[in-house]
Amino acid sequence: MSASPGAGAGSGTREWDAGTYDRVSTPQQEWARPVVERLSLRGDETVLDAGCGSGRVTEVLLDALPDGSVIAVDGSAAMVEEARDLLGNDRVSYIHADLLDLDLDEEVDAIFSNAVFHWITDHRQLFERLGAALRPGGRIEAQCGGEGNVARFYATVAEVIAEHPEIATHVGDFEPHRFASPAETARILEGLGFEEVSCALEPRPVHPPEPREFIRSVCLGAHSELLPEEQRGVLLDAVMERLGPDPELDYVRLNISARKPAARA
Ligand SMILES: C[S@@+](CC[C@H](N)C(=O)[O-])C[C@H]1O[C@@H](n2cnc3c(N)ncnc32)[C@H](O)[C@@H]1O
Repeated sequence: MSASPGAGAGSGTREWDAGTYDRVSTPQQEWARPVVERLSLRGDETVLDAGCGSGRVTEVLLDALPDGSVIAVDGSAAMVEEARDLLGNDRVSYIHADLLDLDLDEEVDAIFSNAVFHWITDHRQLFERLGAALRPGGRIEAQCGGEGNVARFYATVAEVIAEHPEIATHVGDFEPHRFASPAETARILEGLGFEEVSCALEPRPVHPPEPREFIRSVCLGAHSELLPEEQRGVLLDAVMERLGPDPELDYVRLNISARKPAARA
């Protein structure tokens, strides 16, 4: 397996706090189970996990593949190593790469992804690369943040930023996500020739475990990277004070299903 070298360079990939993510990502694991079920796997396929993170969700996928294997791709080296520590090298191969540059040596039977696509802004290139990695007739089953995802939470973040000019200087109206609508996602997939396309939103509000660490590492991770060390805590403290001790995060997931057309005889 290979991917274009230089993952991270000129792309939207970044490093994650993989250890913390692994500890607090119970909601992501719960969201992922029905997505794995939608793949209706026989159990002997090779499946791409597009954005494997720390491997917790890859493990759920692997359980559905007793005789199969997973190609686990992620743009964060720390996440790839965390996943390797958890799952080993037996039935999983790992690639540290930007999904926008993905170029596998062989086609996979199916593609799975959970909580990743909204971190990538160029969805046309993303689905084009995923389509190239998929065998004819193979399915993509994915879920990511969709239109309206954590809108209330990021409105709170914007209020806090507006009140702190020293933070606003670095972050401004920074938007690291693309929370796409079902219609625009379906349009891209159909434009690329995918069939049986189905895209739908699903509200999934969450009371995260360890809310402060969840918000620091997941929701504010990209913002924090833009800030000097001492201001990261200022932003986090101010957001946490507004949210209170047991915040509900207004997550809205976008479920995506599509099939690559079968090869013509
Ligand atoms: C919220 S985590 C989800 C991880 C895992 N799928 C899960 O559900 O727990 C998002 C992951 O997407 C990865 N990611 C974001 N943009 C990426 C890109 N362009 N290429 C590869 N991985 C990317 C991040 O490195 C991170 O590990």
